[in-house]
This record gives sequence, C-alpha cells and structure tokens, in this order.
Amino acid sequence: MKIVLLGPPGAGKGTLAGSLKDKLNFIHISTGDILREEMKNNTHLGQEAKSYIEKGELVPDELVTRLIENKLLSNGLIGKDIMFDGFPRTQNQAEDLDRILSEKNMCVDYALYLKASLSVIIKRLTGRRVCRNCGALYHIINMPPKKDGICDKCSGELYQRADDNEETIKNRMDVYNQSTAPILEFYEKQNKLKVLNADEGAAEVLKAALGILNG
Ligand code: AP5
Repeated sequence: MKIVLLGPPGAGKGTLAGSLKDKLNFIHISTGDILREEMKNNTHLGQEAKSYIEKGELVPDELVTRLIENKLLSNGLIGKDIMFDGFPRTQNQAEDLDRILSEKNMCVDYALYLKASLSVIIKRLTGRRVCRNCGALYHIINMPPKKDGICDKCSGELYQRADDNEETIKNRMDVYNQSTAPILEFYEKQNKLKVLNADEGAAEVLKAALGILNG
C-alpha cells in the first residue's frame, strides 16, 4: 500500500507517520527529514536546499522528485508499503509520483489530509522540539519529554527547527496555500482523498487513520 500524508505545516504529518510506522510496519519517507539530513551533512544537495528551506520556500520539483525516484528505485523500496510525508507538495510532484509508481504497476492508495486550523498550527510549530539524534518529535506543552531538552528514546539533545519561527511559518503557510492545497483536488478526483480532523489529539488522529487504512 502507498499512502501520501497531506496537510499544512505543523498539522501533525510526521507525528502520525511515526505512529503508523510503529503500528503497521510502513516505511516512512519524509522529504523534509531527508533534506535536513543532507543539510546536516553539508552535501551538494543540502547546500542547495538550505536557502529554500530557511526561507520557507519549496525546494525545486526536479530536485525533490529525483531524490524520491532514486530512493524508491535504487534502494529497492518501491514494492514495499510506504508512507510519503511532505511529498508530493505540488501538482508536478503528484503527477511525477503517479508516473513513477505506474511504471511499476502501482499507485497511491490513499491520500490522508490532515486538516488543521491556523491557531492550532501556530501553537504546534512554535512549541515543537526535535531530537537531533533520532528525529523523534516533541511539543513543549502537548507532548513534552520526560526530561527537559532530552529525548526520551535515545537521550539525544532536543532542538528547535530553524524554520519554526513566526516569520518563516507565515511564509510556509502562504506557500502551502498556493502550491500544495490545490493537489487535494488532484486526489479527490481520483477518489483517494480522506479527510482527518487534525485539530484533535494525536491518539484520536491515529485512531481515525487506522480506521481508514484497516477498513
Ligand atoms: P517538512 O519537514 O515536510 O515541513 P512541513 O510540511 O512544514 O511540516 P512539518 O514537519 O513542519 O509539520 P508536520 O505536519 O510533520 O507536523 P509534526 O508532526 O512535526 O518540510 C520542511 C521544508 O523542506 C519545506 O518548507 C520545504 O522547504 C522543504 N520540502 C520538504 N518537502 C518538500 C517537497 N516535497 N517539495 C519541495 N520542498 C520540500 O507536528 C508539529 C508539532 O505538533 C510537534 O511538536 C508535535 O509534537 C505536535 N503535534 C502533532 N500532532 C499533534 C496532535 N494531534 N495533537 C497535539 N500535538 C500534536
């Protein structure tokens, strides 16, 4: 099965993907995580992506699609159950994903849309903390770690993402509304779109997603 997780920044795509991965044994592919790893390792791709990510702009389609295509084909992942988090983000990326999968007689099965209100998004992003070592997600109020600043899972240091500041969040929202929201219709036309109320707590969102995927 192939699932794409759609929704504005901070709607909870990464959080849901982490829980679904544990419950259903899916492979989680997050373009945001991959690009941040490239930035951390100061690769050519990372250097190129940095200027876009820090401003809250989208990395060019061509770069991101090539990244996904390589990951799916060269690592032999394409036949597995996969959750795409943060990809596709434009109409071109959505069409490219359909093309890559259809060349192997596969398709996207569900597009889960995490619908969240702006006030919830802002609180979630400004309070988010991420483990520098394993990438686990926390929130200073909603999902605090047991020890301040330390990851429960691996004792790594928690940090605040550079793009989680109010100015960049505003730009990320504008970019989302302009470039990503229109692809909801792309999946609706294919009868694959399922809407989840992402204002609810993580356990409720997970339950609703499992209901769809197991149903
Ligand atoms: P990316 O990392 O994908 O960022 P995003 O889409 O902005 O999404 P976020 O990671 O900010 O939020 P999320 O929905 O995963 O929420 P989370 O689960 O963390 O992309 C970053 C950048 O990379 C982009 O701006 C772009 O530049 C580039 N990029 C990436 N993919 C690209 C692509 N395909 N094309 C071009 N460029 C691309 O949750 C947020 C917080 O809320 C956490 O603290 C969490 O603990 C908390 N929380 C989550 N769910 C709940 C809940 N239900 N109840 C209470 N708290 C919750």
